[in-house]
Amino acid sequence: MQATSDKSINEYFKIRIDTLRAELPIPFDLFFKTTAHMVTYLRAGDHLNAEKFKTLLLKDSGQHFYLLESDRWAYRHFMKEQIQIGSLSSSEKAHLLRASALGFIEEMFEQPDVHKALDDAKPLIQDFVDVMESDPATMADLISLSSHDFYTYNHSLDVSIYSLALAKTLGFDRPHLEELGLGALFHDIGKRLVKLEILLKQGALDEPEWDQMQRHPQFGLEILVTKPNITPGIIAACFEHHESWAGNGYPQKLAGDEIHPYGRIIAITDTFDAMTTKRSYNTPMTPQASLEMMRDKLKGRYDPEMIKAMTHVLFTQLT
Ligand SMILES: [Fe+2]
Ligand SMILES: [Fe+2]
Repeated sequence: MQATSDKSINEYFKIRIDTLRAELPIPFDLFFKTTAHMVTYLRAGDHLNAEKFKTLLLKDSGQHFYLLESDRWAYRHFMKEQIQIGSLSSSEKAHLLRASALGFIEEMFEQPDVHKALDDAKPLIQDFVDVMESDPATMADLISLSSHDFYTYNHSLDVSIYSLALAKTLGFDRPHLEELGLGALFHDIGKRLVKLEILLKQGALDEPEWDQMQRHPQFGLEILVTKPNITPGIIAACFEHHESWAGNGYPQKLAGDEIHPYGRIIAITDTFDAMTTKRSYNTPMTPQASLEMMRDKLKGRYDPEMIKAMTHVLFTQLT
């Protein structure tokens, strides 16, 4: 049964259909957005049959299905319950966690109020730290799931996941993991102020374009510094992620320990994600080759102890 709703779009939030499961009744109404209306697609208590679910998975671009804002808590609870269900394999849990995070991150990045976006991101990062601490197999699957396509949401999420895993290996405690996770999620927030044609340009950037691109840590600082809930650590994650261990990075040309540990971590995970991810103009490198390149050809750019720890994260089972 379908009924048109008269509520405004602001009273809904987008979800990705791959966060639901076939044959599992949902505890909230599911809506489908047509060009003009929001229509009820599934009622609370109903479920999608396996065949229908398969078709939807192929077609859903992540832009069509919505829930009522008032059901946000119910959705979150539903997701948590699924992730904690013993019957799901660690890779199914990782898929689910990633799909729900991506939907959420997309919404967050469209949100003009960065202060609110940061508050909204906290529970997401806490979920990831929980998984990492209680279920290392799912975290390992999350790491191997990364690097499909390159676009900001994927990139931000992947850099955050890699950074959490690297910091855990380095022995960071929970409050620092949560702060770093947030900082990593927002490390490229300054790209909001870089012109879209520069961000999307397929060939090499000319000098003025490169100049503007290199200002994104500074832009990020300007966006974040005015917000009351921002810690110096989050600012450092953003402002110092393009510094280089050797002292020839940007914007401040800091060297070695002068660079905040979060900046040193994200310098590694950011490059690693860019190298291993398929973009329209490059062929992705394998994790092994990327790490070797960072260790050998780009020697001097990264904290050598952290590069060692990153090798451990990627090629040794997370414990
Ligand atoms: Fe960046
Ligand atoms: Fe980045």
